[in-house]
Amino acid sequence: MTNYAHITGWGMSVPKLIITNDHLSQILDTTDKWIQERTGIQQRHIADHRETTASLASEAALRALRIANLLPKEIDLIIVATSTPEHIFPATACLVQDHIGAINAGAFDLSAACTGFIYGLNLATQSIRSGSIKNAIVIGSETLSRIVDWGDRDTCILFGDGAGAFVVQASDKPGGVRSAIMRSDGSGGDLLTLPAGGSALPASTETINRGLHYIKMNGREVFRFATRVMEKASREVVEKANLTLDDIALFIPHQANIRIIEAAAHRLNVPLDRFFINLQDYGNTSTASIPIATCEAIEKKRLSSGDYFIMVGFGAGLTWGAITGLWTGPFPTKRRMHISRYRRIAQLNSLFRRIWRRIEGLIWGRKNTT
Ligand code: ACO
Repeated sequence: MTNYAHITGWGMSVPKLIITNDHLSQILDTTDKWIQERTGIQQRHIADHRETTASLASEAALRALRIANLLPKEIDLIIVATSTPEHIFPATACLVQDHIGAINAGAFDLSAACTGFIYGLNLATQSIRSGSIKNAIVIGSETLSRIVDWGDRDTCILFGDGAGAFVVQASDKPGGVRSAIMRSDGSGGDLLTLPAGGSALPASTETINRGLHYIKMNGREVFRFATRVMEKASREVVEKANLTLDDIALFIPHQANIRIIEAAAHRLNVPLDRFFINLQDYGNTSTASIPIATCEAIEKKRLSSGDYFIMVGFGAGLTWGAITGLWTGPFPTKRRMHISRYRRIAQLNSLFRRIWRRIEGLIWGRKNTT
């Protein structure tokens, strides 16, 4: 039996706090006009101290589960694509697993910068197609505001925080993800990097004083690379699916810069109105940008059942990739559980496990000391 991988649930979560270009022009030598003309961005959402990569991811995942009408315990795999994980370990995906009560899921983080969501969706799809799992959640989640230098006008104006999630499910009905490509070129790794905090350059007073825990970027080179690969990846993925660019109802590109999207549209000879663009409201949310854009495209009825789509992205690494497929929407369902119920079940589950672990520890301690 052929397994197809359908996207049957989607959800997004962004912080409440909005920072406009005018706000930034009060703390930086910049203007709303410059930012809009060079990037298209008007505002971005920024996490407060309670909002984290895991909390945004969990909220987006619960919303996606609700649309798919799946119980958390039915999820086999959680992939969180992120460049701003909560810790080096444990994986943010494991925190999400606990927050949403996905008691039967494997969970791991994926690091491929802004292309991470495409990579994750492809890996989940392949696991479903091989028959090894039935249901997965793929999440892109970021709190980039925590790693940008708010004094660096070259970078801080670009980024925003948020999360987006897809539920991917097996089905014997044709549809869903149809082809994917994943590419990388590490020779350009220095063009976009967070230099310190890893094993090469652990945190020290010197790394802090030299500002090495912030994003460093060669904007012009990244721009040049991005316009080239957005076109290349779109052409390759369409060909691999035996489709043509004319078959594609909606292009959902990584939301980094309106000029990059315009250049890609021009090179592909596809009208810009077939590209979904919402970077004006969110800035570049890295791994979250494609799933957030997809959620809004559905809400605005730009993507409907029966439409072929392309998701295409690029990022640090350098990495780039694309996915194409036939949008089918959720499987038919009778009744959807309210999100607050999902949350309550997950909290009880987590509490029960923590208490049980303690009791087991006490019993084990007694046995081994007597
Ligand atoms: N406000 C005002 N002026 C500014 C600002 C600002 N915020 N930032 C830069 N400038 C100035 C520069 O100092 C420069 O001045 P100069 O000519 O006197 O030296 C001038 O504006 C032009 O600077 P450029 O860097 O040439 O501007 P450009 O048109 O290339 O736009 C930008 C810069 C927006 C960063 C663009 O290069 C870009 O979008 N690059 C891609 C970045 C990207 O997508 N990164 C994310 C990758 S995905 C991921 O993995 C996270």
